[in-house]
Amino acid sequence: MSLPRVVVDGPLAPNILRLLEGQVEIHLWPALDAGLEHVQGLYTYGHPRVDAELIARLPELRVISNFGVGVDHIDLAAATRRGIPVGNTPDILNGATADMAMALLLAAGRRLVEGDRYARGPTFVHYDPGYMLGREIHHSTLGIVGLGRIGTEVARRAVGFDMTILYHNRHRRPEIEAVLPVRYASLAELLAEADYIVLTVPLTPETRGLIGRAEFAQMKPTATLINVARGPVVDTEALTEALLRRRIYAAAVDVTDPEPLPRDHPLLRLENFTVTPHLGSATEQTRQRMAELSVANLMAGLRGEPLPCRVA
Ligand code: DGY
Repeated sequence: MSLPRVVVDGPLAPNILRLLEGQVEIHLWPALDAGLEHVQGLYTYGHPRVDAELIARLPELRVISNFGVGVDHIDLAAATRRGIPVGNTPDILNGATADMAMALLLAAGRRLVEGDRYARGPTFVHYDPGYMLGREIHHSTLGIVGLGRIGTEVARRAVGFDMTILYHNRHRRPEIEAVLPVRYASLAELLAEADYIVLTVPLTPETRGLIGRAEFAQMKPTATLINVARGPVVDTEALTEALLRRRIYAAAVDVTDPEPLPRDHPLLRLENFTVTPHLGSATEQTRQRMAELSVANLMAGLRGEPLPCRVA
């Protein structure tokens, strides 16, 4: 009996290949362009754009399984119109992504990356108590934009740093307010009060460009912006201007728009800008759990069974 045909958008990590071995026939797309009509599964690994046009070219498609929680690159409405379930990997990456948000926050506030560069460089010849003063993290005010699953984990971590925690969310979260010391604020109030602003919203038409020139203007000059959501939530030009003009203190981001930034982008020359290459969920343990869940979603969809985690 022939195995179901699955297309993937790039070479998969060995742990995922091991899970798929003997169960599906894997084809690299777009190399497979010619045989797309016989594809039953689409496994999205590195955020490829899956639009209505691509879905229309896959008449036998039974499931789309995404390695990751964010599905802004997939046209969910087009999949739903065809009755194709889309799976993702929520929850299991909350802790790792929240850890990353805290790592970026600590790194920016305490100038960790800049300090590392200096400590390795030729100009570090003696200790000077006056150099590289950062901003305090403990007892500062944190503003979480998007108190969803990851944002809530960030709040939990901030409690240990004695931070005052504000949050902004589409809907107020009384159930979280009941168990964590978080206070709801309007976006304007949060931007004006927070020392550290952490973005943990999904990318949607409403959140695209959420932080632009007007929002930077409302932040304190000592504020630091942390983005572990998606690059386009922040207007890159406005961010560049805010950092260049020292309108805010610093930014530390795991995601950018575009991603990656062009190698000659002015942001990459700024000391008050810290960037990591989309590592939010990148721990061995979390990526293994994501591999297992995304493969379980794929296999369930191919068998016509309910997906363990279905987003649409
Ligand atoms: C996610 O889970 O959305 C991460 O960005 C990895 O894809």
